[in-house]
Amino acid sequence: MDKFIIEGGKKLEGRVRISGSKNAALPVLVSSLLADGWSTYHNIPDLADIRTIKKLLANHGAQMEGQGETLRINGGNIVSCEAPYDLVRTMRASVLVLGPLVARMGQARVSLPGGCAIGARPVNLHLKALEAMGAAIELKEGYVEAKAKRLQGATIYFDISTVGGTENILMAAALAKGITRLENAAKEPEVVNLAETLIAMGAKIKGAGTDVITIEGVDSLRPCEVSVIPDRIEAGTFMIAAAITGGDVILEGCNPEHLEALVMKLREAGIAINPVEGGLRVQGAPEIKSVDVKTLPYPGFPTDLQAQIMALMAVSRGASVITETIFENRFMHVAELRRLGASIAVDGHNAVVKGVKRLKGAPVMATDLRASASLVVAGLVAEGKTTLARVYHIDRGYQAIEKKLTALGANIRRVKG
Ligand code: UD1
Repeated sequence: MDKFIIEGGKKLEGRVRISGSKNAALPVLVSSLLADGWSTYHNIPDLADIRTIKKLLANHGAQMEGQGETLRINGGNIVSCEAPYDLVRTMRASVLVLGPLVARMGQARVSLPGGCAIGARPVNLHLKALEAMGAAIELKEGYVEAKAKRLQGATIYFDISTVGGTENILMAAALAKGITRLENAAKEPEVVNLAETLIAMGAKIKGAGTDVITIEGVDSLRPCEVSVIPDRIEAGTFMIAAAITGGDVILEGCNPEHLEALVMKLREAGIAINPVEGGLRVQGAPEIKSVDVKTLPYPGFPTDLQAQIMALMAVSRGASVITETIFENRFMHVAELRRLGASIAVDGHNAVVKGVKRLKGAPVMATDLRASASLVVAGLVAEGKTTLARVYHIDRGYQAIEKKLTALGANIRRVKG
């Protein structure tokens, strides 16, 4: 297993290009299963999770070809409706094939994703919605088995705003008979990116980006050519890394509109953020002010940046309360940040962070994707050497993060294990 070795204390300076969004690319690539023929996808990041979804799609019979950031997929000839445990286990988002397979093939057998480090993360809302659309659902031997001659449009109210649930049902409803209305739908930009992809395929969808989405089912969809949005979480991570090192970084190719909650918080903390030609400039301040943060569904502060902003608050002047409302067990990074000298107390959904003057390098361990990003961010400012083990977590969602950071002046290297 690879490790990162970080020598902290270097200011990040220069320009960094933001890659395509992992969380947008996954459902967009899955939507290839809905049409017969070759679709073209641009701005696809080179990540472990993307390789996993390609394996899964190939397992269903999709043909693929691609170079660099452009990928062409023909999902026309589906040979298997089963998503096996081995693939779903490594990546929860694999469950996104459920909706498209039932809609197109009338059946699917998808392994239940099970728990993960940041909480139970059930898929009950995906299943409830498919049932409301007429699918017969059974849970057998750890698999969801879903069958429907043709899904029927229905009105669905999501008890919790769910990104994956909204995406799964959007794809299913695109080929259902009649009108589906999703209430309390997720409003994340990744959902909008998927809806735009489906519209380019001939789907009739209105309201994506609001909490009510209406889909008028069609009999078939056609291939499309689309681009994946920039990764707002990667962008946010680099913004926080620039801020924590007191650096001066221009992010190229990010979409500032998707980052508003973070920009507000960073400005409150004293960081200067300004649009410049081709990007967003982040300039650190001599002193970071403490701010309170509460994670919420979009456009609220993203849970996927909670760990990283906690690293920033660990070296702020004052105390801040960070409240996690999306996942029940998303403070795994706290124990590791403490190893670097952070002062953090957790009480239920709240973490109280008392800023310290400096962090000190130590061996730490990545526990999940975003937790590992927070440890990299903290390592960049910690005095001396931080060794981060299990970086395969970070490789799931950040394209060449150590190379991008090195280009900005950080002292970080990968040691193959
Ligand atoms: C997606 C993102 C993930 C992000 C999360 C929240 C992808 C691949 N992943 O995950 O990075 O952290 O959104 O922004 O896009 N829930 C249920 N039942 C369900 C579905 C969800 O109880 O059927 C709960 C979850 O346990 C969680 C909350 O709803 O507490 C939100 O989860 P959801 O939005 O579905 O997250 P994901 O789509 O899994």
